[in-house]
Amino acid sequence: MTKCVYIETYGCQMNEYDTELVRSILQGAHYHFVNQETQADVVMLNTCSVRDNANRKVHLRVQEIRRARGKQPVAIGILGCMATNFKTALLEDPSLGIDFIAGPDSYKQLPSLIEQVWEGQGSAFDVTLSEFETYSDVMPIRQHGVNAWVAIMRGCNNFCTFCVVPYTRGRERSRTPESVVEEVERLVDAGHQQVTLLGQNVNSYRSGSSDFTDLMDRVSLVPGVRRVRFTSPHPKDFPDRLLTLMAERDTICKQIHLPLQAGNDRILHKMNRTYTQGEYLALVDRIRSLVPGVALSTDIIVGFPTETHEEFLDTLEVVKRVQFDSAYIFKYSERPQTVAARRFPDDVSEADKTHRIVCLNEVQREQSRKKNEACIGKEEWVLMESLSTKKSDTDCQGRTDANRLVILPFKEGVEMGQWAKVRIVGATPNVLKGEWQ
Ligand code: 5AD
Ligand code: SF4
Repeated sequence: MTKCVYIETYGCQMNEYDTELVRSILQGAHYHFVNQETQADVVMLNTCSVRDNANRKVHLRVQEIRRARGKQPVAIGILGCMATNFKTALLEDPSLGIDFIAGPDSYKQLPSLIEQVWEGQGSAFDVTLSEFETYSDVMPIRQHGVNAWVAIMRGCNNFCTFCVVPYTRGRERSRTPESVVEEVERLVDAGHQQVTLLGQNVNSYRSGSSDFTDLMDRVSLVPGVRRVRFTSPHPKDFPDRLLTLMAERDTICKQIHLPLQAGNDRILHKMNRTYTQGEYLALVDRIRSLVPGVALSTDIIVGFPTETHEEFLDTLEVVKRVQFDSAYIFKYSERPQTVAARRFPDDVSEADKTHRIVCLNEVQREQSRKKNEACIGKEEWVLMESLSTKKSDTDCQGRTDANRLVILPFKEGVEMGQWAKVRIVGATPNVLKGEWQ
């Protein structure tokens, strides 16, 4: 009998991509996908433990699923970062009721893990981390959309002291340029016009003699590709060659997400970020001079252990100086296994973390507003992404090269994936308002 599967995805784009891989692997094993847990024989939660309190969330969700299924049997599995992080503790907690777990490098084992559970042989798990698994031989099953994610490397060797990724996703390994280019060619044939290259440390990509710049060069030349983006890079790997290529190649978007994390040298050192405030600012200058008009976004953590108010002010100072187009700001939260969890007590009070995040968000919001308002009156090419918005069916939306969201009045005949010449007529900190040209 064909079994029905339902997958729920939490967290980052890499997890979304991994869900697409899992769909492909299970489809190959003749599973059928459904959109509701109530119709599923097998429910999988692809979890993230980078920041969220995943443990509690998953606990509640599993109980909900069991309730929704009532007396009908269901096998519940945990995939992703949380699987590696909590390993057998998940299976041994009877109150959780988890049947199988598979870590990020074990998805090819899923059909046999599920069979084992289904045949009544008890719970099953595989959380082995691999030095080699890149899933190059699996063709992800994508949801329809304009953008396609393409993981070019997996894992991370940086060991920033706050980050759980090196423990949950293992060591860095890259796909060959040939397999990436082949995937992008297939995507173009399937109608995708934008690809976003993914990796925990995407610009540390290396395969044989090819580095990230070489790969970007090849991918951005694939006939039919209109926009190439990448995320998330580390500030340590931005050679001039890459920046020059970005400036010269029309198909590479002029947009860089450049995680800062903190603006104080002592904290940066304690985070093991391998750059100083001065080096980060010099990199921003170099990026802006080699890629004119580039949009910059960032990630920041406030309240890392021992961060004082004065040290936080250094982060604020960097934010004011760089004037990012947008920023994702997080309160530090301790992650199991990390160096910070083992060695640095989480000693900044919740009240101080809240004060710092509110303060940074306020400053950034004003900067985002200014950056967006500066677009008013300009003409932009917008790639249409959706024929409605969260708020309205009479609007549609797309993105500019710099990844700014543009809301437009819906018009008869407009299609997803269409290119629209748009005049920007309004702006808020988060979106632009456009008129059709
Ligand atoms: N606490 C808070 N934020 C974190 N991030 C990663 N680990 C933690 C943590 N322990 C943030 C970083 C990273 C982003 C993906 O998540 O800013 O760039
Ligand atoms: Fe985590 Fe640092 Fe690796 Fe990014 S570079 S995944 S923050 S350890």
